[in-house]
Amino acid sequence: MSTATTTRTYTAAVIGVGKVGGGGPKGGGHAIGYQHATMHKAHPRVQLVGGADINAENLKAFQDKFGVPHGFSNHKTMLNELKPDLVSIGTYVGLHRRMIEDAARAGVKGILCEKPFMNSPADLKAVERIAEETGVKIVVCHQRRYRPAFERARQLYNDGTVGKPLLCTAGVGGWDLSEWGSHWLDMFRFFHLDQPVKWVFGQARVRETRGYGHAMEDHAVAYFEFENGSKGLLDGGQEIDGWTLTLLGTTGVIRVKNEAVVTVENGSGRTVEDFSAHPRHNALWHEMLEELLLWIEGGPATRCGHPTMFKSSELNLAAYLSAVKGDRIDLPLSAELQAFNEWPVEALARRKN
Ligand SMILES: NC(=O)c1ccc[n+]([C@@H]2O[C@H](COP(=O)([O-])OP(=O)(O)OC[C@H]3O[C@@H](n4cnc5c(N)ncnc54)[C@H](O)[C@@H]3O)[C@@H](O)[C@H]2O)c1
Repeated sequence: MSTATTTRTYTAAVIGVGKVGGGGPKGGGHAIGYQHATMHKAHPRVQLVGGADINAENLKAFQDKFGVPHGFSNHKTMLNELKPDLVSIGTYVGLHRRMIEDAARAGVKGILCEKPFMNSPADLKAVERIAEETGVKIVVCHQRRYRPAFERARQLYNDGTVGKPLLCTAGVGGWDLSEWGSHWLDMFRFFHLDQPVKWVFGQARVRETRGYGHAMEDHAVAYFEFENGSKGLLDGGQEIDGWTLTLLGTTGVIRVKNEAVVTVENGSGRTVEDFSAHPRHNALWHEMLEELLLWIEGGPATRCGHPTMFKSSELNLAAYLSAVKGDRIDLPLSAELQAFNEWPVEALARRKN
């Protein structure tokens, strides 16, 4: 990873600081805002100056824990009064577009926005526009792109170690394609060097479940093809080999277990590399922030930067749109689908099963 050569400093603020006391297995309460605060406070060039949250109890607990001097019940007031350089957005997906637009219009230079990134294709288009208009740099928190084990798997998948790439697959037990699955959809794109996805098939069983402010599926699948013919298959609901990502090639297979252990089986035998004690294994949040600062200072767009993250979000939404339409969705999205203006799982939830 590159490191800074300047001493330029930044102020930072968090919108949606995180719920006090945790939450259920689905439906929020992970207080990811605390992770953002920890990240900002640990960075030598960043000063955490404020937090905004509509819940006064959450806001007070956050300010007390991290010694944050300024708290606001309204994020726009905070943006106008503090004029922070950086903003973290730790709210649910349905609020992201508005908060990004507000931050960008207030002159914020860099935004770290939680996943799932966008609520709808229409929101995605709007955020693309605001990024173009204002030059704001947006990072989406698919921080796993910085795990050394995933970097290693990506290298091995593309250097011929297992032949030609055929299929990346994983299953997230008890979760979905977006609140958890979006990380793996993004990781499959990372393993495929972010090449374009040509088409997506998705299907979803949606009943009564709600969480993170939106309808959630009980079980869903996404199956898609990259430009080079290799496929991705994600099961949102049922595990496949525990917490393992499997990368199949024509002459072998790579497995990444628990985000740390990389196993290769090919014609030369079996090798295992364990990255859990690697010095960068837990540096992912710091590296994501550091690269954002370098991007703001004129460096290249980061691996979690909006030019590639728009594509991960589009893939995520397209899997649901496939279920809505009952058809394969070809990417990039058609003009008709780019105008689709709600979380697609809401459309599925309205159907009587
Ligand atoms: N990157 C990761 O690995 C990771 C991990 C956990 C959660 N997340 C994501 O983070 C997001 C938040 O999840 P969580 O479980 O931390 O949520 P949470 O419920 O702990 O916190 C959300 C906070 O947003 C506040 N909020 C709601 N509406 C607001 C508004 N209009 N203005 C300001 N604040 C508002 C709530 O009061 C609450 O404090 C989700 O999208 C989730 O998928 C990402």
